[in-house]
Formats: sequence, C-alpha cells, structure tokens
Amino acid sequence: MTATKFSESIRTGYDCKGEHIILGGALLNGEAVPDTLIKIPLKTINRHGLIAGATGTGKTKTIQVLSEQLSQNGIPVVMMDIKGDFSGIAMPGEVKPFITERHEKMGIPYETKAFPVELLTLSKQDGVRLRATVSEFGPVLFSRILDLNDTQSGVVSVIFKYCDDHQIPLLDLKDFKKLLQYATEEGKAEFEKEYGRISTASTGSILRKIIELEQQGADIFFGELSFDINDLMRIDSNGNGYINIIRLTDIQDKPKLFSTFMLCLLAEIYSQMPEQGDSGRPELVIFIDEAHLIFDQASKALLDQIETIVKLIRSKGIGIYFITQNPTDVPNGVLAQLGLKIQHALRAFTANDRKAIKMTAENYPLSEFYKTDEVITQLGIGEALVTALNEKGIPTPLAACMMRAPMSRMDILTQSEIDTINNNSKLVKKYQETIDRESAYEILNKKIETAQEAAAQEQQRKTEAKETQRSAPQKSSAMNPIVKVLTSATFIRGAFGILSKILNK
Ligand SMILES: Nc1ncnc2c1ncn2[C@@H]1O[C@H](COP(=O)(O)OP(=O)(O)O)[C@@H](O)[C@H]1O
Ligand SMILES: [Mg+2]
Repeated sequence: MTATKFSESIRTGYDCKGEHIILGGALLNGEAVPDTLIKIPLKTINRHGLIAGATGTGKTKTIQVLSEQLSQNGIPVVMMDIKGDFSGIAMPGEVKPFITERHEKMGIPYETKAFPVELLTLSKQDGVRLRATVSEFGPVLFSRILDLNDTQSGVVSVIFKYCDDHQIPLLDLKDFKKLLQYATEEGKAEFEKEYGRISTASTGSILRKIIELEQQGADIFFGELSFDINDLMRIDSNGNGYINIIRLTDIQDKPKLFSTFMLCLLAEIYSQMPEQGDSGRPELVIFIDEAHLIFDQASKALLDQIETIVKLIRSKGIGIYFITQNPTDVPNGVLAQLGLKIQHALRAFTANDRKAIKMTAENYPLSEFYKTDEVITQLGIGEALVTALNEKGIPTPLAACMMRAPMSRMDILTQSEIDTINNNSKLVKKYQETIDRESAYEILNKKIETAQEAAAQEQQRKTEAKETQRSAPQKSSAMNPIVKVLTSATFIRGAFGILSKILNK
C-alpha cells in the first residue's frame, strides 16, 4: 500500500511536461521503485543548486550526470575542477554489469557517449589560457588578491585612477610594478600634485605582496589576450553544449586566488550576458567544486557580493551549483537561494557530525515516507536525497534517488587524450600567445626618458645662459589626498566593485 502511495506521490511531484533532465529513480526503504523517475525541468535549472555529501559518496559523478544531459540539450557548462577528476566526460563510458543492473532497476536504458570538452587553465598547464588584465580586475579585487590593508588599497586606487586619467593601459603585473616605482620616484611630483603624497612604505609593502603573488605563479594570469566570456557559450556541430573544464588543481591551496577568480568570472559573465527572464531554458550552468574554498575566510563584504551576484545572475539564465561536503559550508544567504538540492550520504562519527546531519535534514521538505536524518546516513554510493523546483517553481517532494550512471567515462583522461583535445582546440590557439602591447611599463619608461632628455637640455641651456633660476614652488594639492581619492570615479567604481558594474549596466 505504502509503495503505491509513494510512487503516486513521486510521479505527480516530479511530473514534467516541458524539457527536462532525469537524475535517476526513486528509492523507498533502500530499494528502487519502478516508474518513479526524478525529473528536473530545464526551466528551473537557473534557480541554482547544491550538491553535498561526504567524500566518495558520488558528488562528482552527479555533476557528470547533470552536465551530460545539459550538454545534450545544447546547454554549455563550466566546471571548476579542483581535484582534476572530471576530464573523463570527453570519452565514452564502458558498459559494465554493475551499471546495466543499476539502470535496469530504475528503468532507464544505459547508453555510452562522449561530450565536447575544452580544458582551460589559469596557470602554465596545457589548455586554453584564461587571462584577465589588471584593469579588468579593478582596484578592489586587485587589493583583495594582494591582501592589502586600507592604506595600501588606497594607494592601489590612486594608481588605477592615475591610469584612468592618463589613459595608460594597465595590463599585467609588470605595468603595475612600474607604476608603483614611478609614483614614488620620477613621477613623485606629478602624483603629489594631482593626488597627494604616496608613501614609499606603502608602495614597498604592495610591491612585496606582488612579488609574493608572482612567486605563486599568479603573474601569468594577468595580461592579454584577456578571455572572452562568449567562448564559454559554444555549442558543437551536433548541437551539444561544450563542457568547459577549468582545471584548478594547482590553486587549491590558494583559496584567495580561487575566490577572487570566481568572483571576477561571475561578474564578467553577468555584465556580458543579456537579460533573459525566468521563462526560458538556461544559457550556461556553472559547477563550483570544493565551494567551501570560496566561503572560507571571506569577509562580510565579499559574502554580500557573492550573495548579490548569485541572486542577480539568475535573470541572465545562468545556473550556479555549489558542490561541498557539508551544506553548512555554504552561508545561509546563499543556501536560501538554491532551488535544487542533492544530498549524498553524510557520516555520523562525532557529536558534531550528528548535529550537522540534524540541521541538514531540517532544510529538506517534510516527508511521510522518510526519516530524513536517518536516510542521510544510510544512502549508498551514487544515491542522494533530492528536492527540486517543479515547472511552477514549487519545491518537489523529498525523494531518495538512485542516480543514473554517467554516459561518459568515470575515470580521468590519459595525457595523450588531453594532448589530442588541446591540439584540436581552436581556443587553445586563440589564447596561446602572450600579447605584450604598449602599456604602462613602456609608456612610463618613455616618459621618464623624455623627461631626462628634457632635463639634460634644460641643464645645458642654463649653463650656457649662465643664469640661475629658482623653480617655482610646487603647488600642493588643495584637496586632502584621501578625500580626493574617495570622490574619484575609479574609487567609487572599485568600492562597489562588481555591484556598481552590475547596476550601471
Ligand atoms: N551515479 C553513479 N553511478 C555509478 N557509480 C557511481 C555513481 N556515483 C558514484 N559512483 C561510484 O562511486 C565512486 C566515487 O564517486 P565520486 O563521484 O567520485 O565521489 P565524490 O565526488 O563524492 O568524492 C565513483 O568512482 C563510482 O565508482
Ligand atoms: Mg568529488
């Protein structure tokens, strides 16, 4: 009796007329129940989501299952691959007895398939080079990456402002270092006149931080050609959306760089994409693995920014999915905005674990069929508790779900397979070269040279004329330097960072 009632409730709860993807089939008392497919409407994919669970419970395979079906529906995907275990999606899977048995139980035929993949990198790894210019970062994010205090951030804002005012391109770290030097040496008088005094103590500390960043290998992230977000939106000739795997294995111990990069990417995507509304299918879906890295150590201001961008980006048809071990890793303000929740098993070893499980269970819809907190600890590998938003945007009933197996390979690519993808990639070629066009470094060097020549000529003229002249006293800036910076366009742009970028659009 209960079984009939259960399958009835799942069938109506997950009924879906429009385009959708299928996660798997429902489980009751640990057993698959026939004819209870768990369907997620494409229409609500932009309402974001969470995939949580202990290590080895099936989170990454769940992302693979989701990505595959999005791609099949012509929706491109971005995957932040911190562990480097996602590349297998580029190759077809293998038919194995444990997989076909699994699929028979839920009544979904198993087929194998490979998906179009681009491998992207922030560092020297092979793949499509992701780069951004220093000016695209803006003073606030740039200061944050360098972990600067308020005074030092003020100096960074002044330097951005100077470059804005004089239309000097600020592309890479070499440019920025040159400006730091210029502001306290050759250009000291010029800076003092326009923006007030800049202390060498501040520029010295900033310079040390930049050198630190360079030593972490982050310098190659700054410069041109900067990445065009539209290159993430590609569809292949068969109508499958590209799976863009950003390989981040080498920055997992640099959470600050990772979170800043994430925020920069989201802001860029947000500002480039047209408004879409809630009606359609998603334009792009972003999976962020090890999402706790973003939220750990994030300041209140940064968390607010993340919360805001997550809220706003929905209307552009972008879905963001956070993957982490414990839902408590994600701040409440973000958690509250997530439509699809997929909870894999959690382990109850300690009192703290049990507390976390209770809290997690309370965040799921009440169910007459499950004792949620118990089920969370009993789920098998590749099984999860699911609640989604139906086509009307209403939460679906809680379902324990046996996830289908990925159509693509469940293991990583070999080096030669990776090489083949990169050799055939148009994007790798497009972003391969480092362009070093004339920017701050060259412009300031020229300026210094010209000034020195002029000074030498002047000196000669003076000696010839045997005249002594006293140069007019430097007019000091009328406005307090801090006030001047605070009211400058650059600072205002920077202070609100991404937000102002969004609001001005
Ligand atoms: N949906 C699934 N279908 C078949 N096997 C799965 C599935 N999910 C997980 N597995 C098995 O469990 C292993 C661990 O899954 P994985 O997704 O890597 O865990 P996590 O990311 O949570 O650490 C996989 O290598 C695979 O053998
Ligand atoms: Mg994983």
